[in-house]
Amino acid sequence: MKKRGKNFIGLCPFHQEKTPSFTVSDDKQIYHCFGCGNGGNIFKFLMEFKNISFVEAVEEVAEYLGIKIQYDKGVYEDKQNELEEYYEINILAARYFSDSLLKSNEGEEAREYLKKREIKLQTQRSFGIGYAPYGWGNFLLHARENKADLIKAKSLGLIDINEKGEYYDKFRHRIIFPIFSPNGRVIAFGGRTLEKRDDIAKYLNSTESQIYSKRKSLYGLFQSKEEIRKLDRAILVEGYMDLISLYQAGVKNVVASSGTSLTEEQVQLLSRFTRNIIILFDADPAGQKASLRSIETLLKQNFDVKVITLPRGEDPDSFIIKYGKDKFDELVYSSKNFLEYQTAQFEEEGMFEEPAKATLAIRELVRTLSLVDDELKRNLLLKSISKKFNLREKLVESELISFLNLQNQRPDTRERMTNKNVKLFQNLNTINAASPENPFERELVRLLFSGNEEIIGHIIDRIAPDLYSDPKLRQFAEIAYSGFEEQKYSPAYLIEKINDEELKSYIFKITLVEETISKKWDEISYNGKIVKDSLEYTIATVTNFLISQIEQQIKRNNQIIAESKDERLHLELLTRNKELQEEKKSLINQTNKK
Ligand code: GTP
Ligand code: MN
Repeated sequence: MKKRGKNFIGLCPFHQEKTPSFTVSDDKQIYHCFGCGNGGNIFKFLMEFKNISFVEAVEEVAEYLGIKIQYDKGVYEDKQNELEEYYEINILAARYFSDSLLKSNEGEEAREYLKKREIKLQTQRSFGIGYAPYGWGNFLLHARENKADLIKAKSLGLIDINEKGEYYDKFRHRIIFPIFSPNGRVIAFGGRTLEKRDDIAKYLNSTESQIYSKRKSLYGLFQSKEEIRKLDRAILVEGYMDLISLYQAGVKNVVASSGTSLTEEQVQLLSRFTRNIIILFDADPAGQKASLRSIETLLKQNFDVKVITLPRGEDPDSFIIKYGKDKFDELVYSSKNFLEYQTAQFEEEGMFEEPAKATLAIRELVRTLSLVDDELKRNLLLKSISKKFNLREKLVESELISFLNLQNQRPDTRERMTNKNVKLFQNLNTINAASPENPFERELVRLLFSGNEEIIGHIIDRIAPDLYSDPKLRQFAEIAYSGFEEQKYSPAYLIEKINDEELKSYIFKITLVEETISKKWDEISYNGKIVKDSLEYTIATVTNFLISQIEQQIKRNNQIIAESKDERLHLELLTRNKELQEEKKSLINQTNKK
């Protein structure tokens, strides 16, 4: 890593990049990658880098530093222990299913089935594939023999209870696919039936549980994440068998959505490894619907999205078995961007044959385009739409702008507005709009994350949390204030208290960026008279913040006076303004004295 300003920067170990955007702050003890968004403290780094749990990361750091850990019998540990019990039951089940596939007599049918589907033994091992035998009480007996907690096994969805109050196996006569967390723990199971009957669900999944949330997990990610990171690209398929088949054929950067469209959480999870994705769904209408919805979710999180359409009647599994890897690679090579895909989709539906429908189709394309955050990319795509449909660029652009404005009316996207849109937005919202970010307020929050006790104390003593007017900044302030009360104010501690990923990257931006641009660092504020981030600097910033608050209050009062006819209110507010002016004067005098 190279020193840059106060920080160190280098190539990110979490994604492929050529120019360094991975930043480490020595004095704050935090890291952040401005490319992929990964960031946190030393524990977070180890958890991500080595794929280990929090406790393991703490143990590793302690060992490195020669610190002896005292394990506390606290709430956290009880909770952890309880979760561990769930994991253990899943491991018991995974072993049981795997043994019945590999070793039992009944397993013969399943072994035959997998052979017929060309799944090799080694692949079966990599994915921990198993078999749940025919019958209602096989795993149940095994669980009893191993003294597993049956109530917990039930809440994991391995067994259920009938009207007579008897337990029974939920997975029967099925090939079992364990579902792993990104760190390789078994969190759930999927089971494919071996029955050739239409009245049974083809796939059965574990229920949601303490350790399994369907929305948050991606099948196959544990096995594929290294390859995804390496190639900086992921291929998304629908099914378990699709993923396993591709993986076995050497296409190892695959994840599966398990038959639905991607959720926001899944996209966020994947973004830790890459932001380039190729969607490869079945050519049936359900598959196409699912891919359109996934595209939107992906675009909203800045993914580069391509789509592959398979020949009719094929799914990725059948395709690769029939045609082989070379033909598959050709498909990947010829993948279309999402707009081309959507256009082809509309063409097939005959949308461009009637002007009225064509308008709808083009409008829909532009709406999808408006989800692309990157302005440059958006403009290039806009050009391609206008060219393709022979439309004036200005026309398409004005359509695009109206979609952008619609989105910008939601406050959570305000941050991402381009300058042009800011103006439009301000016109839409009158007095009620939240005031723009106060630079002093932002600066105070940055100082709250400085780790300096004296500085933080000074701010906390003088500014109440509800004085922060920006809701985002107020949240940071509240975290810092409550941390300080417990004597915990290091940035490395506070940063992990922020749960929201977007908020987290905002704080990384304000705490790390300026320090990395070393020249700017020296120039900033108070004409270079005060050393940046000294106590003196903090005092000046607090005062300036209070002054700006007073000025705002005065302005607000004047506005009310102008709008109201109530003379008593006028008088009251004028008196209040006078007091405020006095307060402001004394604040200014204070600073001058120093
Ligand atoms: P094979 O028929 O074994 O090749 O599986 P497939 O993956 O081709 O199946 P399909 O295309 O029918 O379904 C794709 C994915 O959707 C599956 O892998 C499952 O994740 C999901 N899925 C399909 N059928 C069901 C079902 O009946 N119940 C549930 N929960 N999921 C299903
Ligand atoms: Mn299939």
